[in-house]
Amino acid sequence: MAPPAVLVIHGPNLNLLGRREPEIYGRTTLAEIDAALAALGRELGLRVECVQHNGEGEIITAIQQAEGRFRGILINAAGYTHTSVAVRDALAAIGMLGVPAVEVHLSQPAAREPFRHVSLLAGVCRGSVSGFGAAGYGIALRGLAELLPAGGGL
Ligand code: DQA
Repeated sequence: MAPPAVLVIHGPNLNLLGRREPEIYGRTTLAEIDAALAALGRELGLRVECVQHNGEGEIITAIQQAEGRFRGILINAAGYTHTSVAVRDALAAIGMLGVPAVEVHLSQPAAREPFRHVSLLAGVCRGSVSGFGAAGYGIALRGLAELLPAGGGL
């Protein structure tokens, strides 16, 4: 049977990781994060698919289309974390359809500018990981794996 699949959604500007404000976000590139997640997924018995979108609508469409295709979602919505009621609504909807989401951030937004202190997404995510840099993605994937019912498929 095929291993359970999880969708990793990277939001705006995360395609620039490695060169983007490295003192805040580190020097690991998005490709390196995706490769590490794929390897950890194999260890955990999960198929990991990663996408990056700069557009809010593209992120919402990716969340909606997870139904029937993915068991869970790992999301760093980047700047939309603090602004997007629509991304929150999409995560709430897919959560009610049985696809849990976990939020991840490289930095610790609560320790940064006040406008980053609120996550509109946290309340509809089953868990959040922040402040551990690129390593946080692995921690978050392990956490998401804990939430998934046992068994293959999707
Ligand atoms: C981020 C934190 C956000 O506040 C910021 O807008 C990002 C990245 C993080 O991973 O630390 O783009 O989500």
